[in-house]
Amino acid sequence: MSANETSRRPFIAGNWKMHKTAGEAAAYIARLKELLPSPLDADVAVAPTFVALPAALAAAQGSPIGIAAQNVFWEKSGAFTGEVSTAMLEDLGVTWVILGHSERRQYFGETDETVGRRLRAVLDGRMGPIVCVGERLEEREAGRTWEVLTAQLAGALDGVSPDEAGRLTLAYEPVWAIGTGRTATPEVAQEAHAFLRQELVKRFDKPIANSIRILYGGSVKPENAAGLLTLPDIDGALVGGASLEAEVFAKIIDFKGA
Ligand code: 13P
Repeated sequence: MSANETSRRPFIAGNWKMHKTAGEAAAYIARLKELLPSPLDADVAVAPTFVALPAALAAAQGSPIGIAAQNVFWEKSGAFTGEVSTAMLEDLGVTWVILGHSERRQYFGETDETVGRRLRAVLDGRMGPIVCVGERLEEREAGRTWEVLTAQLAGALDGVSPDEAGRLTLAYEPVWAIGTGRTATPEVAQEAHAFLRQELVKRFDKPIANSIRILYGGSVKPENAAGLLTLPDIDGALVGGASLEAEVFAKIIDFKGA
């Protein structure tokens, strides 16, 4: 038995990005509740936009569907127009928060350092951070994948204590696989996940590294989910496009039954 079969419960999260109004979010969650496999062998979450969080939380109440935010700012309050703090999300009942998504890095100036600051703020509160890392195509082609991942991990995780590490979820999202239909092959994905796990062993220790879930993200669909999610170091998925329809997302959640 591989380690993830013994100790890591799969985690399937849908990142809706800039999709769905509050009403659409509530209707989706009502439908997803009906479609969840029983028994449910995975943690499940969806990440609506900030403005749809209250409606999503109300719709998900009493269900196993967790609600994630797509980002958060590191300051507690103040003159930071357009930003949202961890306390504001916690007050709503948000349980997870995605940090350092490649679209934040690519379009909104996010850096390894700012991801680290956001992670610090989240760890000082109560939510579970989902920290995204992943190389761009030109970095992979230049043979720099491991160097990029190491730097991204350092930016995020320097200063994270072993006790705090148990609250982490990582997401490996190779940028060339996001929204492109070009999924990493199981071999490429497993190799990167194993690399990240080794980095976690070096940074913390083996039991801690083995307890941290590493999700794969990048064109995950019902057709390729089982092939990725049954690999030893892939503990779940962060799903973009294929999470936007409840029927399709439910099939990914039920990857074992597919
Ligand atoms: P796609 O599943 O649309 O490729 O997006 C992946 C992603 O960015 C999830 O955060």
